[in-house]
Amino acid sequence: MPYRLTVLGTGYLGATHAACMAELGFEVLALDVDQSKIERLRRGELPIHEPGLEEVLRRNLDSGRLRFTTSYEEVAKFGDVHFVCVGTPQKKGERAADVSYLDAVVESLAPHLDRECLVVGKSTVPVGTAERLAEKLVRLAPAGTQTELAWNPEFLREGFAVRDTLRPDRIVIGVTSERAEKILRDVYAPLGEVPIVVTDFPTAELVKSAANAFLATKISFINAMAEVCEAAGGDVTQLSAALAYDERIGGRYLNAGLGFGGGCLPKDIRAFTARADELGAGHALAFLREVDEINLRRRARMVGLAGEVLGGSFGGRRVAVLGAAFKPNSDDIRDSPALDVAVKIAELGGLVTLYDPAALANARAAHPQLGYAESALEAASGAEVVLLLTEWQEFVSLDPEDLGAVVAARVIVDGRNALDVELWRGAGWHYRALGRP
Ligand code: UGA
Repeated sequence: MPYRLTVLGTGYLGATHAACMAELGFEVLALDVDQSKIERLRRGELPIHEPGLEEVLRRNLDSGRLRFTTSYEEVAKFGDVHFVCVGTPQKKGERAADVSYLDAVVESLAPHLDRECLVVGKSTVPVGTAERLAEKLVRLAPAGTQTELAWNPEFLREGFAVRDTLRPDRIVIGVTSERAEKILRDVYAPLGEVPIVVTDFPTAELVKSAANAFLATKISFINAMAEVCEAAGGDVTQLSAALAYDERIGGRYLNAGLGFGGGCLPKDIRAFTARADELGAGHALAFLREVDEINLRRRARMVGLAGEVLGGSFGGRRVAVLGAAFKPNSDDIRDSPALDVAVKIAELGGLVTLYDPAALANARAAHPQLGYAESALEAASGAEVVLLLTEWQEFVSLDPEDLGAVVAARVIVDGRNALDVELWRGAGWHYRALGRP
């Protein structure tokens, strides 16, 4: 392999990128400032639930191609290409993104860079960040202009992180030199035939913001249709299935329900509008505020619908909540619609018992006031209403008779339009869902 790679930050993105690059045959050294995280990773333990990733991690630890450190000095000595994969969370009380972790990485790494190398940003950032960091890098690095920055946004989905990294739809590289372009083309060559789009810095940064804005808009579009269906007596699942036959529209990301959450879509659309405001282009993204509001209204509607089926009040009523993760196959509870709903119902006096196949520990730590169970049946035991809020396959394939045997009343609200209505109604359940009669 022509280059030795480093990965800075070992969260969802960094841990996946490091393990997958080693899987492609590169020698990889990954850094995090969190010593305990690094120790776990060295033992082959993932701090996150990500199907298939632990196997890749262990295989490459065993082969010796993948190593972990907390030393910037070691990283600078080792690497020819440094991938920056730290988070850019939403600033407290603001819509804008907090890019301070990125600045901290550049400020920690650059003073050790005394030879030619490429630093590659992968984090999602407000447009203009790359240009600012490029200048900072060259200013702080002893090697000066022998160091260079490139921007290479990441499009992986949690739950499919390994697949999305090893078989991406496209690779976007924002560069200011042919040298940087060549290095990144070489790095990704082992992936085989993948379309590569080469751009300037602002375009590369914007592609990522635009992609997430589009996905969020598509989800909120169908959820807006769900609101209209509720008002008019229509069925949004049939509406969405009919729209999906039009190839220009397509059926993916057209599932109406509780809406989007997680560490990306909600904060990315907010950061995008904040940055557009700064650039004097806020009017162009005004619609994204509505996208955000439609999304949040679904959570409120879910609480309302659950209250409705209970006859108007949650006080002292037993509510089973199935799902805490922001989506299935993940233990991530950041901005989780499911947890948001569970917490609101508990605030309104409901006795909530929650179960999730992977996110229980995270949910418990964040919201110790809720009740927790070790299985769906245990959570539903004695419940007057069951709420399906994250569509884990384990919940979708629940047997209505098994669940019916433990609940106090056969009442279910499907927040993800994931269950077979006929089956559940056929088993004597009162079935309600978002956007359907
Ligand atoms: C999202 C993007 O899909 C990735 O391409 C991007 O790289 C990533 O953000 C990121 O910026 O890092 P992710 O947050 O893992 O990935 O989750 P998605 O699978 O996109 O789901 C987001 C949310 O939308 C979930 O809460 C999901 O339940 C919801 N959703 C999705 C719907 O409500 N309806 C749909 O039809 C699809």
